[in-house]
Amino acid sequence: MGKGRVLVTGGTGYIGSHTAVELMAQGYEVLVVDNLSNSFLETLDGIEQIAGKRPVFEAFDLCDRERFEAFLKVHTNINAIIHFAAYKAVGESVAQPLKYYRNNLVSLMNILELMPLHGVKHLVFSSSCTVYGQPDVLPVDEQAPIKPATSPYGNTKQICEEIIRDTLASGSGLNAISLRYFNPIGAHPSALIGELPIGVPANLVPFITQTAIGLRAQLSVFGNDYNTPDGSNIRDYIHVVDLAKAHVVAVRRMMESKTKSNLEVFNLGTGRGVSVLEMVRTFEKVAGMKLNYKIVGRRPGDAEQVWADTRFANEELGWTAQSTLEETLASAWAWEQYYTSKHPDRH
Ligand code: NAD
Ligand code: WQD
Repeated sequence: MGKGRVLVTGGTGYIGSHTAVELMAQGYEVLVVDNLSNSFLETLDGIEQIAGKRPVFEAFDLCDRERFEAFLKVHTNINAIIHFAAYKAVGESVAQPLKYYRNNLVSLMNILELMPLHGVKHLVFSSSCTVYGQPDVLPVDEQAPIKPATSPYGNTKQICEEIIRDTLASGSGLNAISLRYFNPIGAHPSALIGELPIGVPANLVPFITQTAIGLRAQLSVFGNDYNTPDGSNIRDYIHVVDLAKAHVVAVRRMMESKTKSNLEVFNLGTGRGVSVLEMVRTFEKVAGMKLNYKIVGRRPGDAEQVWADTRFANEELGWTAQSTLEETLASAWAWEQYYTSKHPDRH
């Protein structure tokens, strides 16, 4: 008998696939739903190779309520849902806001409507440090004010948190834990799964590794005139495996009725701020090569510096990010090399 059945939405995606692996390693039965809009079926092979078992998988859109309900009628006795499925490209959300509002809000509303009808009690929601904008106080803790969102994507995370809060307050009988991720990077140490951006990466680390492997000519560092020690932006970069493990803890906490209220919110970061130029230097050290980069102007909408106060997660969840930045960047580089060796024609 396993420890419980967990539905992972967006489970062929970056964070979802790593979480599926950690759940299976801890004895949970995992079911994955993903419409493959931003991921590949091949990820299931990687999960299977690592975990020694292939999760149940169905490809459909969670916005399709009827299809989702049919799934829940077949796959009964699900204890918890971890809801990763969402669109996440900040720039695209500015150009196509309704695409983002529809996908991210409707999928969550379907989940919240269907959970009580099918006896699913516990929800883990993927939120983001983006809800804090540029915090007034650093490190930022969970009580910090939510700042007006700087993109429709960020707004979907704020609205989703409100939708969850209001639904739980209405006496739905559900429990939820909202996890505010800082900047997830890196890959599984096996290099069998990792981050797979489609097209030109918008995020720093995939851009660094794709530049190092020769797919991109040069990394642009967006600004060195910020009010930070070296002038570049500061972020809290967390290893995706550390992040994945926190989801297992969150599910266990709800299933064992250890929560202090029916809605809990935790920051998931390392508690350490690292600048873009430090990221470049650390990558150069672990990969043993020089990276071709140039300083360019600021990217509109970037917060100057953000890093997490992780004490609440450390104390309440008994969880702390373990990996060093060197290990984390080395894992991202190993994954880039492995994936490119398997797909030499990628561009
Ligand atoms: P990802 O794009 O790799 O994974 C999301 C998965 O959801 C994809 O596989 C996609 O195909 C699927 N999906 C999207 N809409 C769907 C729908 N309607 N029905 C079914 N499947 C759908 O993204 P990720 O980096 O793994 O992010 C996971 C979650 O964490 C997202 O909610 C994201 O907003 C949030 N988050 C990510 C970051 C980050 O930097 N990666 C930071 C903070 C929060
Ligand atoms: C990190 C730093 C850039 C690319 C985004 C979302 C946020 C959250 C995490 C989901 C910044 C700099 C980047 C490049 C650069 N996602 N950079 N050159 O912007 O902190 O957060 O992902 O919720 O909502 O906004 O992450 O990786 O894009 O950037 O200099 O080519 O790297 O300016 O300082 P960001 P990022």
